Amino acid sequence: MARNWEENIKKVLISREDIQKRVKELGEQITNDLKNDDAPLVVIGILKGSVIFMSDLVREIKLPLTMDFMEVSSYGDGFESTRDIKIIKDLEHSVRGKNVLVVEDIVDSGLTLKKILQMIGKRGPKQVLLCTLLNKEVRREAKDLEVQYKGFEIGDEFVSGYGLDYMQEYRNIPYVCTMDIKINE
Ligand code: XMP
Ligand code: MG
Repeated sequence: MARNWEENIKKVLISREDIQKRVKELGEQITNDLKNDDAPLVVIGILKGSVIFMSDLVREIKLPLTMDFMEVSSYGDGFESTRDIKIIKDLEHSVRGKNVLVVEDIVDSGLTLKKILQMIGKRGPKQVLLCTLLNKEVRREAKDLEVQYKGFEIGDEFVSGYGLDYMQEYRNIPYVCTMDIKINE
């Protein structure tokens, strides 16, 4: 496999500039929606895919907030969704009485997020809101999952970059793209 990742990129789907613009809009929307709410705001990133998006997003939210992280296993290194999720890293702080904003890189079937929401919901938050950079609506299985903030709608294809991995690598690509990697090269 070529070590220069640019050689492995098939197509740029969402440019760095378009992401930047959209993240700013999402931050403004979230700020407006929560600016008159006195409950503390905690932004929860689902590791590891949301890290790059979340670090940009929180800088566009003009409100006091804390950050926490949760890691669950669902996909492993493969591309297939499994029904069970396991907590690998739990939140450090209580969400009781707080406005919770869960940040994801991508919502695909929605099954992972639905389970995460059920877990957080049991811990007594004031409300739980969801924000995802990418939404694959065509793949949704959890039909009742409500996603309040969506960055971009994409089709049924596997994407990488801006936090999303290809076999755990390539999260550092600054845009969202499809990859063209020949295994066993
Ligand atoms: P579900 O199906 O539960 O799964 O919504 C969401 C998780 O699946 C991973 N996922 C992807 N990761 N490119 C990726 O790098 C993709 O196109 C993709 N689609 C789903 C991702 O970890 C997400 O949190
Ligand atoms: Mg993820």
